[in-house]
Amino acid sequence: VAAHIEQAKLILKKNDLGGYTVPTHGLYPFQWNWDSAITALGWMMFDEARAWKEIELLLSGQWDNGMIPHVLFHKDSDTYFPGPDVWGSHLKLKSTSISQPPVLASAIKIMVEQCQDKDLLKQNLAQFLPKLIEYHLWWYRERDPENTGLVVSYHPWESGMDNSPAWDDALAAVPAVTWEYQRRDLNHIDSSQRPKKKEYDRYLYLVEFFKNNQFDSEKIYANCPYKVNDIGIISILHKATKDLLSVCASVNLQDDALDILEQKVKLTESAINQLWCENDQFFYNRDVITKQLCRVKTNGSLLTLFAELADQKQAIALKDLSTSWLSASAYAVSSTHPDSELYEPQRYWRGPVWLHINWMIALGLEAYNYPQLSEKIKNSSLALINKSGYFEYFNADTGEGCGGGDFSWTAAIALYWLL
Ligand code: DGY
Repeated sequence: VAAHIEQAKLILKKNDLGGYTVPTHGLYPFQWNWDSAITALGWMMFDEARAWKEIELLLSGQWDNGMIPHVLFHKDSDTYFPGPDVWGSHLKLKSTSISQPPVLASAIKIMVEQCQDKDLLKQNLAQFLPKLIEYHLWWYRERDPENTGLVVSYHPWESGMDNSPAWDDALAAVPAVTWEYQRRDLNHIDSSQRPKKKEYDRYLYLVEFFKNNQFDSEKIYANCPYKVNDIGIISILHKATKDLLSVCASVNLQDDALDILEQKVKLTESAINQLWCENDQFFYNRDVITKQLCRVKTNGSLLTLFAELADQKQAIALKDLSTSWLSASAYAVSSTHPDSELYEPQRYWRGPVWLHINWMIALGLEAYNYPQLSEKIKNSSLALINKSGYFEYFNADTGEGCGGGDFSWTAAIALYWLL
């Protein structure tokens, strides 16, 4: 264990570009939103000042409207595509024009509980909390303008679960870009572990669509050809909003915006059953344009446990399903249920195991008082590191490491569990 801890710390240090941590060198050479939030948690276990710095740099990319982008292009790099020119980034700190699962406030709540240096904590919270409030208001205001309680997502990259089969049908309705481009991810990673060209063609169409609409929220909400209720984002946002409210209360922060966030929490709780399928006993993602549930079982739905959005009956159903899900593949929890015909154990979000998702599912199971199952997921995750090292994700059948190596969030989750 001591050797694993040392190695995980070394990975964060090696991936540190002076205040922010790249997920891995080469494949992802910038600061990613949810990667950074989770990585800060890892830093917190052994270097508090550095942990807060990670958050400071992530928040430095916040847009005037409150959005925290999915990627901040702090320094140029020619190892990644699409870069700031394709995104049409016009700000001083260049960025993408979508966000990512907002796990940041949940990471911060844990950091608040863990940190020893209370002066540093106080200084940082004073600076960060107003920005976090703006970020959460942005999600509810811009991504749920009709006040339904269920925010929409505009891009598979925003879900963080890029080529999940949950998005197949919604993405198929998006036109393909007509220009030629050179992917760079395939210079680093075998194509059998990455999304296909038909998906990239549509990812890029959407990037251009945002640019052509001058990033105007109203126009994009009205006309975007891809709009989904992403159960992963909805769950993570819900949990993070509650965590943000709790951190604000702990420092007696007064702000009218907190009442708005309280109302949004209640609204989501009353709306979530629209995504529950009684027949399948499962929460699904939904295509907002066709109004159809995306009926593929993916691990994002288990994040309703992390968010504590499931009622007792639903939680029992999800716990039972998780138990059979765990036994259906050698390593758990596969990102797509192994019984699905769309399951591919090595292809990015179509089957592999991701440790940061396991971490959230394990916390959720603990919250619903299923400590044994939670422990099983943690042990299955640590077994993957033992077997293969700190990879981006893992083949759910063989445990082989996939994607980028020496990966920051995998190291951070290990530090969280082992320290
Ligand atoms: C990529 O480029 O693969 C990333 O997932 C985008 O965020």
